[in-house]
Amino acid sequence: MKKGIGFGIIILTLVLSLMGCSSSSANESGQKEKLVMGTSADFAPFESRNSEGEFVGFDIELAHAIAEELGYELEIKDMKFDGLIGALQTNRVDMVLAGMSATEKRSKNVDFSTEYNHSGEIFVFSEATISSVEELEGKTVGVQLGTIQEEGAKKLQEEVDFDIKLVDNSTTLIQELNSNRIDVAYMDKAAGEGYMKEQNLEGFDDPTSSSPGMAVAFPVESELVEDVNQVLKKMEENGELDKLKEKWLQDS
Ligand code: ARG
Repeated sequence: MKKGIGFGIIILTLVLSLMGCSSSSANESGQKEKLVMGTSADFAPFESRNSEGEFVGFDIELAHAIAEELGYELEIKDMKFDGLIGALQTNRVDMVLAGMSATEKRSKNVDFSTEYNHSGEIFVFSEATISSVEELEGKTVGVQLGTIQEEGAKKLQEEVDFDIKLVDNSTTLIQELNSNRIDVAYMDKAAGEGYMKEQNLEGFDDPTSSSPGMAVAFPVESELVEDVNQVLKKMEENGELDKLKEKWLQDS
C-alpha cells in the first residue's frame, strides 16, 4: 500500500514537472526556448534574403513578432517549399510561415492558424501578349513545385492546352521567364506583382483563382496553434498586422 502511494507521488511529481516545462517557454537557466520556423526564402515580399544573407519579409517579421509575444527565441530554417509539410510532419520544425495557403488538402497533414493574408494568383510574362486564360494555349507555363499554383495550373490545363514546367524555387521561375525557357509564370499575386515592378514584366490576374488565404502551419495537434491564433488576433486588433501589410504588401 505504502509503496503504491509513494509511486503515485513520483508519477504526480513527474507529470507536474512535465506540465511545468511545456507551459513555459523559458528553460531553467532563464534562457528562452527556441521556436523553430521553417520557410522557403524564395518568395519576396513574404520571405527572401537581403544582400547580407539575412531573412527579410512579411512572414519573417510576423514570425519574429509571434516569437517575441510568446517568449521564444526564433530560429529560421530555410528549405524548399515542397519539403515544408514533411518537415512539420517529422517535427523538424515547430511552425511554417511561407506564404502557405491553408488548403483543405494540406489540412489533412498539418494544422493551420487563422488566415493572416490573402493574395490571389497572377500570370506573369515578359511582353503583354496574353490577356486571357484562353490565350495560354500552346504556351509553356512555369509554376513552383508543391504550390497551389501547381495544382491550379493542372486544373486549368483541363480546359486550355498548354505545357507546364515545374521548378522547385520561386526565384528560378522568374529566371526561366527572363531566359525564355517558359512563356508565363503562374504565381501568387503579391509575389508576382513585386517581380513585375522590379523587372518590368507584364501580367494579368487569374480570374479563375479561388485560393484560400495564407496561414501559419503546425504539426498536427500542436499546442502552439491556439497561442499563435491569440497573437494574430491581438495583432489584428491593435493594427500591427495592418502595419506589416502596409510595409511589405502595399500594392496587393
Ligand atoms: N501560396 C502558395 C501556396 O501555398 C505559394 C506559396 C509559395 N511560398 C514560398 N515561400 N515559395 O502554395
